[in-house]
Amino acid sequence: MFSFLASGAAHGPVNPWVAVAYLVAGVFFILALRGLSSPATSRTGNRFGMAGMLIAVVTTLVTHDIANIAEIGIAILLGGIVGFTIARRIAMTQMPELVAAFHSLVGLAAVLVGWAAYLNPGAFGLLLPQGGIAPVSKIEMGLGIAIGAITFSGSVIAFAKLAGKMSGAPILLPMRHVINLGTLAAIIILTALFAMAGPAETLPLIVAMTVLAFAIGFLLIIPIGGADMPVVVSMLNSYSGWAAAAMGFTLGNTAMIITGALVGSSGAILSYIMCRAMNRSFISVIAGGFGTDSGAAASGEGREQRPYKQGSAADAAFMLEQAEKVIIIPGYGMAVAQAQHALREMADLLEEKGVEVKYAIHPVAGRMPGHMNVLLAEASVPYDKVFELEDINSEFAQADVAFIIGANDVVNPAAKTDKSSPIYGMPVFDVDKAKQVFFIKRSMGGVGYAGVDNDVFYMDQTMMLLADAKKMVEEIVKALD
Ligand code: TAP
Repeated sequence: MFSFLASGAAHGPVNPWVAVAYLVAGVFFILALRGLSSPATSRTGNRFGMAGMLIAVVTTLVTHDIANIAEIGIAILLGGIVGFTIARRIAMTQMPELVAAFHSLVGLAAVLVGWAAYLNPGAFGLLLPQGGIAPVSKIEMGLGIAIGAITFSGSVIAFAKLAGKMSGAPILLPMRHVINLGTLAAIIILTALFAMAGPAETLPLIVAMTVLAFAIGFLLIIPIGGADMPVVVSMLNSYSGWAAAAMGFTLGNTAMIITGALVGSSGAILSYIMCRAMNRSFISVIAGGFGTDSGAAASGEGREQRPYKQGSAADAAFMLEQAEKVIIIPGYGMAVAQAQHALREMADLLEEKGVEVKYAIHPVAGRMPGHMNVLLAEASVPYDKVFELEDINSEFAQADVAFIIGANDVVNPAAKTDKSSPIYGMPVFDVDKAKQVFFIKRSMGGVGYAGVDNDVFYMDQTMMLLADAKKMVEEIVKALD
């Protein structure tokens, strides 16, 4: 039925229809990224992405003689069932670790494709008439395996840290920068030797290169801890894209090259934006173990007891009603408590009473990029009331109330003043400039992701509202009613 599309094996002549189909898929992916750049258009973006992927997959299936359709159908069905089950079960707060786990699969796939092409080059159209593989194909293969292996082991460590299966604190090896640079140099030299070697000498080189690439992925991620994990996840996202692009070269598949390059570059741009938001150097992120020389994040346990003021929902409601301007700062705790709907209700009531309400979103609030935006959008909070850090930070000086709900690190002034703090250098909201600060968290014992104490708890104008965020906001709503 699709014989007009047949283009032969990988690296064969490309049928113009196939090229057009892949190009259309590529355009759909670009439209997807464009859509995903704003919460208002993100659903449309997702649809473009799904349509692009459908076009790419169907085109590949009908034009390549890769395996029989039944085998592929079974693989898609099994993968689909696993993906569907995970997507239904996963809590929003577990999303970053899921993303890290999925990145590891992309990395592993790149390693396996590279090795399959090395062991059976004929099946990939890579076997030269005189035997052996062309040096350029070996470089593509080596890159795919190396980037894939780094992505795999790095993502496994990121997953383990984010899922709490290993300590989130940085593990700092002595002379780690020398070890990392040495390992990286060895991988590059081994890849070059592999490309130039004759068929009989390549095996030990590719084995050594693969082992070192797995090792460096591990070495790059173990020193990273505390508040820096989000940047790592987006960096691994970028690596997984480049691994897929390198795989596209090995398979001679344009769609994979385009898609991989889009994921790689968009992930790199996201990492860059997040580095700027966290005030970290992009280069030191790529080098691994940035900003962590001060050792493990401080623990919340055993810190000194300081006096603080505690209030009730009724106190908060009373003062909120008197306010002219309220800025809400949501964080991870709002996601845990699923308090966004109650929060929206509270904001609606306040607006009915003539209070101006705005939402302030920090780029790393929650546990994944855009986490708070997604939750607020789910509760139908209008997008024009939601502001980024740099757009709203100057407004705290005019705010009557800074309403912190489940956020902690993103309002911690230690980021501005304490050089020994693991979050030092990250821009934070200037909540101390607001006339009144309400701080919702469950207990004084709990700390934020970075595990450090927060001076905002003890400020004169702060009232601690100690309870589950949803419960507390529901009580405030009742009191306002
Ligand atoms: P965090 O600093 O993690 O603070 C969360 C706060 O929520 C804590 O004070 C916690 O105190 C409170 N909380 C937890 N469950 C609650 C509940 N059910 N009800 C009320 N309060 C609750 O949050 P943040 O300010 O959003 O900061 C984000 C941090 O995560 C940053 O350090 C960031 O680097 C890191 N991170 C971000 C990402 C991305 S991409 N956004 C990914 C990984 C890590 P109690 O336990 O006392 O309630």
